[in-house]
Amino acid sequence: MISSWTVVADRGDLTETEVLHDERPELAELSDCEVLLRVSRVGLTANNVTYGVIGDLIGYWRFFPAGSDGQGVVPVWGFADVVDSTLDALPTGTRVYGYLPMASHLVVRARLTSSGFVDTADHRADLPAVYNSYLVTSQDPAYDESLENLQVLYRPLFLTSFLLADRLVDNDFHGARTVVISSASSKTAFGTAQCLRDRGVRLVGLTSPRNVEFTESLGLYDTVLPYGASVDVEPSVYLDFNGSDDVRSALHDLLGTSLVKDISIGLTHQTASQDPRSEFFFAPEQLRKRTADWGSDGLAQRFGEAWRGFTAQAGSWVGVVEHSGPEELVEVWRAVVAGKTNPNTADVITF
Ligand SMILES: NC(=O)c1ccc[n+]([C@@H]2O[C@H](COP(=O)([O-])OP(=O)(O)OC[C@H]3O[C@@H](n4cnc5c(N)ncnc54)[C@H](OP(=O)(O)O)[C@@H]3O)[C@@H](O)[C@H]2O)c1
Repeated sequence: MISSWTVVADRGDLTETEVLHDERPELAELSDCEVLLRVSRVGLTANNVTYGVIGDLIGYWRFFPAGSDGQGVVPVWGFADVVDSTLDALPTGTRVYGYLPMASHLVVRARLTSSGFVDTADHRADLPAVYNSYLVTSQDPAYDESLENLQVLYRPLFLTSFLLADRLVDNDFHGARTVVISSASSKTAFGTAQCLRDRGVRLVGLTSPRNVEFTESLGLYDTVLPYGASVDVEPSVYLDFNGSDDVRSALHDLLGTSLVKDISIGLTHQTASQDPRSEFFFAPEQLRKRTADWGSDGLAQRFGEAWRGFTAQAGSWVGVVEHSGPEELVEVWRAVVAGKTNPNTADVITF
């Protein structure tokens, strides 16, 4: 047996965490097709907090069951290495990228694919497929070892940015000339702004007063305003990343029928209220649509091109701070939940 650890959070109060120490099976105890992964490097942003805030609604708590009633394991994106395997195609040392627990280890039941494998564990069977797929780095044309930190931080977020921007372009911006974006300092929001640059619309970023300077420094928005400031009354789409009722209502009051579409993507303000005026954007749905339209290769080629353009710039916008081990992971988690992190740095944790 080998020692392992898992960070569990109280589902009702995400700041309450516990590090559980346990033992994991070695090869002799793995069943057919099972593979033991050692988690290596993950990113942590407000998106992971959302997994906790709407964990029951979307099923995020069900990916990595652990802890007692009322506790859960928050998913993170990152790299892991195979340390024991029952499959010749996934030998020890294979490095993979995908959806991982806040834990040192994960056992998956792997069904091989052209780019890696899918975890077919029973408890994950009815959860969105995008979260169950793992890429083997040696089979991933987009993998670059020197960009691992950018990948764990941005790849899942930028996929959303890319698909969201694509959906707006596909719908001719619903006739709008302006796109208003809240939590404009967040990575998913500014990734979307980057995808929408030079598409013939004006990009207005709304952010907290303390984040105005950073958001302006990105050079991605035509205008950056603090929450509460007035926007111009013209046909607009609202991309809501913060989920604040106040910000949404103020925009509806000001713009009236000029607000032609209100799309809810995130809830950095951590309230999960559903407003009938908002349409929820769930990236895996648009992913399914574009996979059907373009095929997996066509989608990968288009996304790859956008991703390369984004990573060429992202490193200069936000500095990466590295942390290590479960205690530092918990420290970063608490800061991210409390909104105490600074948008000009992003946190990567090595396990
Ligand atoms: N629907 C989807 O498929 C999908 C996919 C990916 C991400 N998302 C969502 O997009 C949002 C942004 O995620 P991200 O990972 O890109 O975020 P991030 O880069 O970590 O965002 C940081 C920013 O979020 C705001 N913020 C963070 N914590 C806060 C708090 N406790 N209170 C108030 N504001 C806080 C602040 O922005 P401001 O000062 O500018 O408000 C902060 O600068 C998340 O809600 C995430 O779940 C949705």
